[in-house]
Amino acid sequence: MLKQHLQELQQHDTPLYAYNLELLRQTLKSASTEAAKYNYHVHYALKANANEPILAEMLHAGFGADCVSGNEVKRAIENGFKPENVVFAGVGKSDAEINYALEQDIFCFNCESKHELEILNELAAAKGKTARIALRINPNVNANTHKYITTGLEENKFGINAWELESVLNLLKTLPNIELIGIHFHIGSQITDLTVFKNLCTRVNEFQEWFVSRNITLQHINVGGGLGVDYYNPDANLIPDFEAYFGLFNQFLEVRPGQEVHFELGRSLVAQCGTLISKVLYIKKGITTNFAILDAGMTELIRPALYQSYHKIENLTSEKAEERYDVVGPICESSDCFGKAVMLPETNRGDLVAIRTAGAYGEVMASGYNLREKANAIYL
Ligand code: LLP
Repeated sequence: MLKQHLQELQQHDTPLYAYNLELLRQTLKSASTEAAKYNYHVHYALKANANEPILAEMLHAGFGADCVSGNEVKRAIENGFKPENVVFAGVGKSDAEINYALEQDIFCFNCESKHELEILNELAAAKGKTARIALRINPNVNANTHKYITTGLEENKFGINAWELESVLNLLKTLPNIELIGIHFHIGSQITDLTVFKNLCTRVNEFQEWFVSRNITLQHINVGGGLGVDYYNPDANLIPDFEAYFGLFNQFLEVRPGQEVHFELGRSLVAQCGTLISKVLYIKKGITTNFAILDAGMTELIRPALYQSYHKIENLTSEKAEERYDVVGPICESSDCFGKAVMLPETNRGDLVAIRTAGAYGEVMASGYNLREKANAIYL
């Protein structure tokens, strides 16, 4: 696909993020069609990619917005998301962020601690408002993913642990400016083993029982996001298997009459449509392999350095015989490496290299370290 756009890519300065909007639309169509089968609601997790053309597609697909900062709430609303379709999560919401979201009358705050509930009640009272909340519960389910992106274990900072729930309910009775409307879960990201979600359903069903036995009706259940993508074979799996994913929840999640089920997908919607395009600056001999030194580095895509993540690397311009390269960036850190011993066609200065599956948690996690400029983005 990218080779078709080579001429256009060559006209731009690198490093460059290139987004395939047609693929994004197909992905969103698949996700929204499969979710609609069960009347499921999807909130797009802006943290994966908050670029405005991407948000426009999410809005068009009928998704709401899942935000984790005041600025994300603002970005969503400024880009046309209705406040009633915006949810706001995070363990450390500041007073200013909470006040802004209260003023906007967002759908729901996903609350992560007793202390947060007390402060939210205080701030809502000061404005004469009632804040709708879902309790983010830590279900202690292992997501079998990288430890930095696991969030649903008791050792993680996220959510309220089961043993604290009784006292949370007692606290809520004393907080008149808070209305409990749901429960929320998110156990981690890049989950490729669907049985993990089955385990989540089992736990959610148990928690539902617990609330029902206390005569509490929940208007919605939010099961978070986390569906993984195929970083190894992006072309074979450009669109994740949303049919299997939503079908599994339909099979295993018990839903009460009138209750809504919400999802917060990020990566699975945007990862494959984005590619980091970079130019080869230098080739340098190493002991066992050559180094291909790119003009993109960990400042543009930090995932390999931070999580040892694999991203497929392709040389878009060379068709020579393959050789082995360590593909590295220009940043003054040894961890600034996109891949070791990567087989690529013989690579030379000026070749264009594509780092695939970079649409999620790529551009949004860019930094200005080494006083680097922000990379441009184009939409194909
Ligand atoms: N909901 C909540 C509460 C979350 O914390 C997250 C992601 C999502 C939804 C969306 O999850 P997704 O569908 O994208 O897996 N920077 C890391 C990923 C961090 C994910 C943080 N939370 C990476 O590059 O792999």
